Amino acid sequence: MTAAAPTPTSPLVTPEQRAAFARDGFLVLPGFVRAADCEALMARARELVGALDVSTLRSVFSTVSQTRTADEYFLDSGDKIRFFLEADALLPDGSLRPDVSKERALNKIGHALHDLDPVFARFSRQPALAQLCDELGPGAGLTEPRVLQSMYIFKQPRIGGEVVYHQDSTFLYTDPPSALGLWFALQDATEENGCLYAVPGGHRRGLSRRFRRSRPDEQARTGSAVTFDEIDPQVLAISPAEEIPLVAAQGTLVVLHGLLPHRSGANRSERARDAYTLHVISAHSRYPADNWLQRDPAFPARGF
Ligand code: FE2
Repeated sequence: MTAAAPTPTSPLVTPEQRAAFARDGFLVLPGFVRAADCEALMARARELVGALDVSTLRSVFSTVSQTRTADEYFLDSGDKIRFFLEADALLPDGSLRPDVSKERALNKIGHALHDLDPVFARFSRQPALAQLCDELGPGAGLTEPRVLQSMYIFKQPRIGGEVVYHQDSTFLYTDPPSALGLWFALQDATEENGCLYAVPGGHRRGLSRRFRRSRPDEQARTGSAVTFDEIDPQVLAISPAEEIPLVAAQGTLVVLHGLLPHRSGANRSERARDAYTLHVISAHSRYPADNWLQRDPAFPARGF
């Protein structure tokens, strides 16, 4: 008996969209996610935050002497679900502002929601994402995808901070580069509440810098557990004329080449701008042992 032929699936992106991704380094796909699925992720995030004892976070950021604890909290988060505060939610001494609720104080949840939380896992492993990575990934050096990182990103009303120009491959460095970002607008993202901005074609400029764990001698010298290796700072010397806003209605998926310079604005509006992101790398690229994000070897990043 012979195995049944696989059911052919229709492509998710057109040849024109594939060409646009190769040219621009990003692709905006409105309506990729149903509104109900966006609402379900937001509701789940609210549940996680509801169960959070924010005093544990406050201790992490409470004093300068706690920097090392903060570093460890971040550096150990690659295979956990951890919560990170918005800088503007803190007083100069590092304690939480009394006028900011914990729901409004958070900057993000990371970095293994896709493996550890059933609601986010179901969303993150939907077959359409595997198919999309098959269709667009090879254009970004991505073959045999591994879902490495997930983040639930809050862009809180009034205090949601700007994220300056960067390339995701700086933080999720592989050799050769293979990172692909999937950015889901769970709420409408506009220029008022902090949408993404990108430089079309900027992914062809190469890598600006690499973020990694400091060697012991570096840490002794600088006091920092992490280090940037500057490669080509010019890549991120971007003039406003080069960028375009990636306005995204709820349910939009923005696909980002790992080398694409992008940023997001501050949220100075009254409207939240929650997003969920996944970052995928290739099983065939080398993943250095000094990348910031490490996972327990018994719990490696899996494919879709
Ligand atoms: Fe990014």
